[in-house]
Amino acid sequence: MAPKWLPSVNRLLRGIDILNLKSKLPRVGTTIFTTMSALAAEHDALNLSQGFPDFDAPKALRESVAKHVMDGHNQYAPMTGMPTLREKIALQLHQYRGISCNPDTEITVVPGATEGIFCAIAACINPGDEVIVFDPCYDSYEPSITLAGGITVHLPLSQGNFSIDWERVNSAITARSRMIIINSPHNPSGSTLPLEDLHELERLAEKHNLLVISDEVYEHLVYDGAEHNSVLQLPGLRARSFAIFSFGKTYSVTGWKTGYCVAPPALTAELRKVHQFVTFVAVTPIQLALAEFMKNEPDYPGTLAAFYQAKRDLFCKALENSRFKITASAGTYFQLLDYSAISTEADSKLARDWTCEHKLASIPISVFYEHPPKQTYLRFCFAKNDDVLLQAAAILCKI
Ligand SMILES: Cc1ncc(COP(=O)(O)O)c(C=O)c1O
Repeated sequence: MAPKWLPSVNRLLRGIDILNLKSKLPRVGTTIFTTMSALAAEHDALNLSQGFPDFDAPKALRESVAKHVMDGHNQYAPMTGMPTLREKIALQLHQYRGISCNPDTEITVVPGATEGIFCAIAACINPGDEVIVFDPCYDSYEPSITLAGGITVHLPLSQGNFSIDWERVNSAITARSRMIIINSPHNPSGSTLPLEDLHELERLAEKHNLLVISDEVYEHLVYDGAEHNSVLQLPGLRARSFAIFSFGKTYSVTGWKTGYCVAPPALTAELRKVHQFVTFVAVTPIQLALAEFMKNEPDYPGTLAAFYQAKRDLFCKALENSRFKITASAGTYFQLLDYSAISTEADSKLARDWTCEHKLASIPISVFYEHPPKQTYLRFCFAKNDDVLLQAAAILCKI
């Protein structure tokens, strides 16, 4: 005889039918980052998959959060962000990019770049609007566009050097195009957008009256003496862009999920309308600690390029005698390795196999594409202690 509880279990299993639930994101599953990190933990593998440092944030910054918590700064911040933090952001934008911003009308503190990107899209994209993204692209863009009723138009970056083919962009623009999303320095390829590309974007965006989201979360991680190019430095782009930044990347505090969005007053006003009903605010003591640290250590972001370039170089040099083809990353803390001389296997399978067999986790880049081209890259995060990078390289040299 069937147990008494079986009918209710069956009802639960049929819940989706009973509730007539139609997923708004039917193609979205667990992210590759969660999958690979879980696999790395299961197999006790070195984890160079997910993009976060395995070293701690500056001590003074961590102590400052504790202090602000103990001092009783534990209630809601203003919706737009703590004024003291917005002021420090404005000063930093002036120091590093040479631009002036009004902290009250142009800067919004958000709980992570992801929330800022979501709010900018939700605020501006209407059903049927087309948004151009470049594959391989960061995985939060498309779901945010879909939830707003927009249509994601995926254009591939050129194979090999991950640059933008502007002629292709031009021919993809239609009467329904509303926005272009760029990301430089670029995750997962580590490429950066030259200034000429921003001028090209400016020309197209002005001609077709497009909005721009510029994901600049790795702005300070640019190598070999190059400078980061921000949309905020080109007047035509500044007037139509949401520039998105993350304290998580700059201060090695990805778990604090705090970032900011810089946009002209009219766009900022629309973004804030959404932000106030998505999360309303970012975390108060974290904002105060960031403001204090930025005041005391204004030159800290300027030290990051040398710090991470040394890690990139250590990792790449230790791989010199491996069978991987390597083009050193121009930015971010990710390094692509081309395994074409080793295997013809699909990157997703290889990333899983190597996590289990060689105890080293990476990210296959095909997951960042709508239509993955035939290419053989795995992405490794080098925001790791030097001994971990050398251990990882030693494993890779044996493959
Ligand atoms: C390109 C890119 N954009 C946005 C984010 C999200 O940043 P946050 O953690 O501040 O939401 C990341 C994080 O990995 C990223 O790589």
